[in-house]
Amino acid sequence: MIPENQQRGNFGGKVGFILAAAGSAIGLGNIWRFPYTAGEHGGGAFVLVYLAFVVLVGIPVLLAELSIGRASQRNPVGAFRVLAPRTWWPAVGALGVVTGFAILAFYSVVAGWTVGYLVKAMRGDFAAGITASESAAQFQALIGNPGLAIALTAVFMVLTVGVIQFGVGEGIERFSKVLMPAFFVLLLLLAGRSLTLPGAGAGLRFLFHFDPSQLTIPVIMGALGQALFSLSLGMGCMITYGSYLPRRENLPFAAVSVAFFDTLIALLAGIIIFPALFTAGADPAGGAGLVFIAMPTVFDSLPAGQLFAVAFYALLAIAALTSTISLLEVVVAYFVDEKGWPRAAVAWGIGFLCFLLAIPSALSQGAVPALSGGEGSLLPLSFLDLNNILFGNYGLTFGSLLISLFVGWKWGTRAALEEMKRGAGTDRAWWHAAWAFLVRFVCPVAIVLIFVFILWTGEYF
Ligand code: TRP
Repeated sequence: MIPENQQRGNFGGKVGFILAAAGSAIGLGNIWRFPYTAGEHGGGAFVLVYLAFVVLVGIPVLLAELSIGRASQRNPVGAFRVLAPRTWWPAVGALGVVTGFAILAFYSVVAGWTVGYLVKAMRGDFAAGITASESAAQFQALIGNPGLAIALTAVFMVLTVGVIQFGVGEGIERFSKVLMPAFFVLLLLLAGRSLTLPGAGAGLRFLFHFDPSQLTIPVIMGALGQALFSLSLGMGCMITYGSYLPRRENLPFAAVSVAFFDTLIALLAGIIIFPALFTAGADPAGGAGLVFIAMPTVFDSLPAGQLFAVAFYALLAIAALTSTISLLEVVVAYFVDEKGWPRAAVAWGIGFLCFLLAIPSALSQGAVPALSGGEGSLLPLSFLDLNNILFGNYGLTFGSLLISLFVGWKWGTRAALEEMKRGAGTDRAWWHAAWAFLVRFVCPVAIVLIFVFILWTGEYF
């Protein structure tokens, strides 16, 4: 067994780890990406398939990643090298590092918008009685302004690097402990408000009514991508976090708690946003601006609405920050572990490169028509959307396929279960066999089938 490496830093304890991992999982994926993807994919059918994938693929792969990380005590590339020496498996880790970098490059743009909206909320920009189209115009003015979009992205990248340069315990854990619970309470309050809006019934019907005719290949692929994206899976993020988890901690308990809270928060976001949209008469398939357009119409109807608006965007920005730090941490851990480079310098260097790669995404929301997608553009979708789907759906799905094959057929479910039993206090549990079956058969077969269908039908998004 590899000795616990004290040099790398560790999470202090169970609560800290669960909150840090939940902090990674809970972010714009829940509040921004889930509602708008559900909206574009017809609502209920998407939501049901998403929930099924969380259980059948998400939780098994989450357990697989955390076991790989804790057993190897390494970054994703080093982890595969330790567990499968002299093979090509470390390439899977490398693919993950690249995917994480690419995801951060568009995620930080949207995270920048949350900072812009925080400032707007503080200035009181969302006047009473604001309509959906006025709100949409305000959103477009913000994201279509090239200087502003780039500056906000830069602000967010600096915040992310500012946390990461201090490492795991001091930076990530301390931060998550306070902020994640505060976010949860605010969401509950807002859900209470949304459920009493006149459009609540229509909104909930859209979100939860299952219509099998909506089940197309792009909807299924989108739901799988969303489940993986939301749980931070498929690129080694949870391998990296698992590598900081002390051996005495109960890994299965942590994994299930994280998946539960992450899914609950996505559903809460839907319960807040769709009633608001239907009340305001806006289109649920409105695309990436959905949350930013819907929310101002809710705040305005609340007593002390401005206070709620400021709190919401502050906490959304923070939820995004606990996710961006987990993305950057994967890349930084790779260079620190494998090359021995100093953490702070790597964090600033990678952060700067990622910011450069984020610029085309920041400019793709109306500022530069060639990057904006659709007619008159060089691209079928905006540069930001394209990255979101290419890396956030396809990259993570392919990565998860390889991780489930690795644990199921190379490293072995028995070795992974040995790691999970450490700190769990049980030697045998009913779910051990179920988990092994899901990782060996269900995950890889489901993913391969989806890829085959996509190639066959030619429907990619
Ligand atoms: N899961 C985060 C969210 O929902 C985003 C995220 C953080 C992520 N780390 C990741 C997504 C790793 C994929 C892989 O907002």
